[in-house]
Amino acid sequence: MLGCTYPAPVRILAHTEQIVRHYVLREIIDGRAPSQAIDLFAVEGATAGITYIFNSLRENRLLLPGDAIAVGMPIFTPYIEIPRLGDFRLVEVPIEADPEVGWQYPDRELDKLLDPRIKAFLLVNPGNPASVKIGRHGLQKISDIVAGHRPDLMIVSDDVYATFADDFVSLFSLCPRNTILVYSFSKYFGTTGWRLGVVALHQDNVLDRAISALPQTELAALDRRYGSLAVEPRKLKFIDRLAADSRNVALNHTAGLSTPQQVQMALFALYGLMDDRDAYKKAIKGMIRRRHDTLYRELGFAAPRIPNGVYYYTILDLETLGAQRYGQDFVDWLLRSKNPLEILFRLAKEGGVVLLPGRGFGTLHPSARASLANLSEADYARIGRIIEAIMNEYADEYGKSKAGSPLTLTPTA
Ligand SMILES: Cc1ncc(COP(=O)(O)O)c(C=O)c1O
Repeated sequence: MLGCTYPAPVRILAHTEQIVRHYVLREIIDGRAPSQAIDLFAVEGATAGITYIFNSLRENRLLLPGDAIAVGMPIFTPYIEIPRLGDFRLVEVPIEADPEVGWQYPDRELDKLLDPRIKAFLLVNPGNPASVKIGRHGLQKISDIVAGHRPDLMIVSDDVYATFADDFVSLFSLCPRNTILVYSFSKYFGTTGWRLGVVALHQDNVLDRAISALPQTELAALDRRYGSLAVEPRKLKFIDRLAADSRNVALNHTAGLSTPQQVQMALFALYGLMDDRDAYKKAIKGMIRRRHDTLYRELGFAAPRIPNGVYYYTILDLETLGAQRYGQDFVDWLLRSKNPLEILFRLAKEGGVVLLPGRGFGTLHPSARASLANLSEADYARIGRIIEAIMNEYADEYGKSKAGSPLTLTPTA
């Protein structure tokens, strides 16, 4: 715990692995896998995990430039940007969630996964920015596609918001051999600064199988890459390659999270495991959901209830809200005459609060994403009031532009 020696084994300390494995099993995969069949790699938060995964997929010839990767949209902005980087040069195939059906992936979008040119599917579940978990139908559809048509598909599932959802089911439990699970302690414990996360992989997985099926020339090149780590480098599991690649192989002995971090991670996991009445979980979920309702109440709307909603974030869709309040004609005028970013800039200037534009996450309508995890309830009330005041001001302007006279609009909701 004092950190006097390099942590060993490098991938994760033995006791940390056991404890965090139980935590992951309980919180993310609902006990649906034999606990000993899952390997973990302790990483500096989920984002480090994603970075290492992309690098190792490339180094092990599992994702090559020009390969297609399906990306569940809208998504955490960096995940749109990473595949396009010169390092990877992947072709992105968006799998669009539909706001009209509670941000679920429609079958026609998921059917894109049938195309064998798509090597991997990167998704966040529950999503960011929509904060909705994939429902039963979508999960079943994806697992049917994998089982019936795409047993080779690699799935990278970032489940960092899983612990905020009711009755969460991860793709890792439905497609355990295809899915690389990424989880972080940043969100649930409000500890982004600690940099604590894990990558989890089933011991029997498609990645190890795909590596062993590579052409001999590629295998020989990988033997050279990993030859300093193992007498038989071909037996090195993908998860151990991840750890090694995270330190350019040569510095493998210094890979992984520091010992104090791993102790802290084990304490968080134990705390979660010992919360057998879900007292902490209920308190945390209740807190973000109250903030959500307060924001909408002050905006002057009934708080939306979305099936599968998680309410860690909310998307304020300016088109929908504007149409509900003042009608479609107002929205058409707003979109014609105002830059949707203007509202966000005014909110920043007048309220000292920065919301992110939904378009940055790949939403198809102008919107703002509010995180419900960062501020006090009073702050969300203030955000609601300021946005409402700005919208009312626009409505006045719209009324004047229509009638050449003061406001003629009456709110419809
Ligand atoms: C989907 C998703 N993954 C990962 C992260 C960051 O996780 P970490 O702090 O564990 O790196 C975020 C933060 O916003 C996120 O939205």
